[in-house]
Amino acid sequence: MGQALEQNSSNPKAEAANKVALVTGGTGGIGTAICEKLAALGYKVATTYRNEAKAKAWQKSMQDNGCDVAIYQCDVADFDECKKLVDTITQELGAVDVLINNAGITRDSTFRKMTHDQWRDVISCDLDSVFNVTRPIIDTMLEKGHGRIINISSINGQKGQFGQSNYSAAKAGMHGFTKALAQEVARKGITVNTISPGYIATEMVMAVPEDVRNSIIAQIPLGRLGKPEEIAHIVAFLVSEGASFITGANIAANGGHYME
Ligand code: CAA
Repeated sequence: MGQALEQNSSNPKAEAANKVALVTGGTGGIGTAICEKLAALGYKVATTYRNEAKAKAWQKSMQDNGCDVAIYQCDVADFDECKKLVDTITQELGAVDVLINNAGITRDSTFRKMTHDQWRDVISCDLDSVFNVTRPIIDTMLEKGHGRIINISSINGQKGQFGQSNYSAAKAGMHGFTKALAQEVARKGITVNTISPGYIATEMVMAVPEDVRNSIIAQIPLGRLGKPEEIAHIVAFLVSEGASFITGANIAANGGHYME
């Protein structure tokens, strides 16, 4: 049995054959690296987008680098759109085996200045989306007796962040969801885990005012921002058969910025 596990876990390409991976918000910084990694492993990869022109250009540049990703317009904050998305992917590519709930936005503001829209937009896109996309997928994973769900949260869901009461709440909520669902599906061959990236060199982090960003980097023991590929690497591990015993976990990748 130990040998069988070793054989499986040492052959990630065989594990990925004919499997479908959906990465929400795949056109962003971390999402792009995750799509590249899963496509390189041999998954049929799909992602969602909001802006058609940007997504088509992104898809073309991915193709130019030998990476095919199917793109679907979908507002992950909208349950009905997510249901249609999952139906379409199931028809065109097959049932989703691997789901990466990665779509997310920030609307940073101190709480006393935060508008209801800033609160709602972040909770809808970052947390409601996890329900909206996972709910139409879970039944087929249960029928198959296999599945991998990975929620991309944040260090700021763990430690809180000045100016992010909306985002910190949503990201902490994602891991609460992970722990509850992981228990419900553990005996059905489905694992549910959270990855909590620290500050990664993406557009989202580069949008933080430079002086604030520099003071954040100064607090990171490794002395640098993370790379999107460093998050994709954890995804590749968690989707593998070798990670079958890991569920309900929250894997931090933050350069030592926050240690629980
Ligand atoms: N701790 C304590 N006080 C702070 C502070 C901090 N971290 N940051 C700002 N302040 C203080 C200022 O010194 C100032 O104090 P005074 O009023 O006494 O002068 C006050 O807060 C400023 O408050 P304002 O409401 O006027 O805020 P602002 O308009 O200057 O902007 C902010 C505040 C929007 C939060 C801005 O500081 C900011 O963008 N911070 C970065 C937040 C951040 O880290 N976002 C992460 C984005 S990336 C991401 O989210 C990805 C991921 O998962 C990691």
